[in-house]
Amino acid sequence: MLQFALLAAAITSIYVSRHYSPLLAALGFSIVGYQATNALIPRVSSSFIKIGLFGKDLSKPGRPVIPESIGAISATVYLFIMFFYIPFLFYKYLVVITSGGGHRDLSVMESVQEEYLFPHGKMSEYLSAVLCLQSTVLLGMADDLFDLRWRHKFFLPAVSAIPLLIVYYVDFGVTYVLIPDVIQNWLQTSKTAVNLGGFYYMYMAAMAIFCPNSINILAGVNGLEVGQSIVLGVISLVNDSLYLTLGTEASKEAHMFSAILIIPFLGVALALWKWNKWPAKVFVGDTFCYFAGMIFSVVGILGHFSKTTLLLFIPQTFNFAYSSPQLFGLVPCPRHRMPRFNEGDGLMYPSRADLVAKPPKKVMIPVLKSLYLLRLIDIETDAKTGVLQNCTNMTLINLVLVWFGPMREDKLCNRILTIQLVIGLLAILARHSIGSFIFGHDNIQFL
Ligand code: UD1
Ligand code: MG
Repeated sequence: MLQFALLAAAITSIYVSRHYSPLLAALGFSIVGYQATNALIPRVSSSFIKIGLFGKDLSKPGRPVIPESIGAISATVYLFIMFFYIPFLFYKYLVVITSGGGHRDLSVMESVQEEYLFPHGKMSEYLSAVLCLQSTVLLGMADDLFDLRWRHKFFLPAVSAIPLLIVYYVDFGVTYVLIPDVIQNWLQTSKTAVNLGGFYYMYMAAMAIFCPNSINILAGVNGLEVGQSIVLGVISLVNDSLYLTLGTEASKEAHMFSAILIIPFLGVALALWKWNKWPAKVFVGDTFCYFAGMIFSVVGILGHFSKTTLLLFIPQTFNFAYSSPQLFGLVPCPRHRMPRFNEGDGLMYPSRADLVAKPPKKVMIPVLKSLYLLRLIDIETDAKTGVLQNCTNMTLINLVLVWFGPMREDKLCNRILTIQLVIGLLAILARHSIGSFIFGHDNIQFL
């Protein structure tokens, strides 16, 4: 009953929205997305298992088999929502009178509250975002089906971002970045911006690689992949609402664009969370990690606030940097670095990399010992010889266990998500205080 009421409210708000604000439609579509994803997951899960798309839940007694890559359902529902959204977003350009031959003589523009709607030019950006997300899902599925090697799959998101970068080149092409006031003063230059040219495209491709992969490697605990994406969405929306209420006119368009992409994403992600949270009934798969990460890259790139996007990714950036000795082969990296489940007490313990079977590079030994002294890893050494036996795998998840001790899987996930939320909100606060001090201005006008 409640579901029908929600759906009816969603459809009404979508219908009414065309005269008011695309945000209302985003909210309506978000509810439709939640309901559709939530209804589809239990109905199609067994088909995933049938074609071999399943995984073992390594942190449960008996390691039960559950369907994998279910995030593909959220992603597909999201893409269809994005298609149906177009008439509501660009309603004012619908042609009502034409003399034929494709002439746009009169559109509905007059009857709509102008300030809330997008310029027609945004249509190409919107379509390029949808195209980019579609290719991300395609390549993510390839990874889930063929279990690609790390060195190959790492660069896949850059390939998916090609439609986005090409449309950016043709449609906008700005490759200038602002020089912070502090650096301007230091260099004693009056130049306020620098043209990065081709490097700007490399930077955008790097963003497209970083966001999806950083979500994919902060994983291994039920609910964490989708949970962190929801937290990222919430922090982004807090930032967007600041701009939409207090921001300058110039910044409103970019943040409206961000909000209309993120609100429906939260709908499909919340439905997935319901099935993936502890004890997980489905796994999200790499498709979802890439898709979720790509939404934030797209929003940051098209909205020209990729530096702020990186601020939202502080925990993921830390996890990436912290993981780098293992990712780059300086310290052995097992296939799975997720924490170890102890069947005896049902708690999670930090997992460890064996340093005897495959010793780390010599240069890493003092580094590992220093990290141990800083309580950033735990190591075990041979009491007699002093030779390193093993070290905890270098992931944020294991680090939380080193700091706070063993805990149940759901508690661990919630602890990490809380840390992420607090850091994210503080980062936004810093962005609008220290950020404006460094750059000399902020697009938000506090009273
Ligand atoms: C990344 C991590 C890997 C981590 C894995 C967990 C790096 C370099 N890679 O690899 O260390 O172990 O994610 O997703 O950091 N699984 C669970 N419980 C969960 C989530 C996953 O048991 O809550 C297991 C299942 O067996 C599932 C498998 O992990 O089938 C999925 O692993 P996959 O996403 O393919 O691993 P990667 O993304 O390659
Ligand atoms: Mg994965």
